[in-house]
Amino acid sequence: MSSKTLRLTQPDDWHLHLRDGETLSTTVPHSSRTFARAIVMPNLKPPVTTVEQALAYRQRIISHIPKGRSFEPLMTLYLTDKLDAEEVQRAYDEQCVHAIKFYPAGATTNSESGVAELECVYPAIEKMAELGLPLLIHGEVTGDHIDIFDRERVFIDNVLSPLTQKFPKLKIVLEHITTREAVDFVNSQGDNIAATLTPHHLLLDRNDLLAGGVKPHYYCLPILKRSSHRSALIEAATSGSPKFFLGTDSAPHAIETKETSCGCAGIYSAHAALEFYAEIFEAANALDKLEGFASFFGADFYKIPRNSAKITLSKNPLSVPAEYIFGDSTVIPMRAGETVSWSIEETT
Ligand code: DOR
Ligand code: ZN
Repeated sequence: MSSKTLRLTQPDDWHLHLRDGETLSTTVPHSSRTFARAIVMPNLKPPVTTVEQALAYRQRIISHIPKGRSFEPLMTLYLTDKLDAEEVQRAYDEQCVHAIKFYPAGATTNSESGVAELECVYPAIEKMAELGLPLLIHGEVTGDHIDIFDRERVFIDNVLSPLTQKFPKLKIVLEHITTREAVDFVNSQGDNIAATLTPHHLLLDRNDLLAGGVKPHYYCLPILKRSSHRSALIEAATSGSPKFFLGTDSAPHAIETKETSCGCAGIYSAHAALEFYAEIFEAANALDKLEGFASFFGADFYKIPRNSAKITLSKNPLSVPAEYIFGDSTVIPMRAGETVSWSIEETT
């Protein structure tokens, strides 16, 4: 008897960390197995802050695409105090830079060069609004006095809301949202404001991270929230609203930097990303909404053509290995040593 299958337009990943150097030989084959394109995060060490650096990084990524596959890295620049309107114009003209990423200084991995005072970059943001170049936002305030579980909500009230009022035409993607407040905020705004949703925030809550022992491989930022927030995220993802689309935030770290007394934030999901989303949508009885979320809404928001290739998923379990090689170390993938209930059959 043939198992249940699902045929979709090939999806894109609108938020991805590929890293650099030798580790590209793990991350690029994984992502290009499923996705036609990906918005590539610029938080390298040092960060990708100029068009020239983005173009060079793009070439390093392309050199790791397995033969016979097509995969287009959509590059981003890292917003620093030094980004001026001219570089924004250059980014726009150079068609392979698709967005600019705003990390509040100190908010997450390699965000030391991020922006402390948004006012300093108003000329760059003004230019982005004029050109229609999206600003991608890590939406968390920093500062030890704000509870880590409240950082997204406070960011929306104190930073994002005023920003949208100051620049009403600016295209914004609020990345990897984790709270009901973020869903409500995005829903309350115009078409120029959208959000990405990760497989880990849709599948896990803070009990998975903390109950019965700390699981360092589930530590990510924004941190996993209580399960009522997860329900709001699932509702948003499966609602059919074009404001919510796929962005894995797959963020690999070498095992020794996760399993330590002060571990890095990030969950690696690129090896089974679409399969995780299929599980989530099936559990919500919304498999018919997966194609819009995974393959249409992001492309429409970024104003680039939808893909024409198709991908077929089948309800055959995918076995996830215990680890993958990651440069001279290993990375522990999400669901390590277990199975995912869907697998990719073919891409045509
Ligand atoms: O968990 C995360 N990991 N969140 C981020 O915002 C950054 C990412 C990384 O680069 O490791
Ligand atoms: Zn990220």
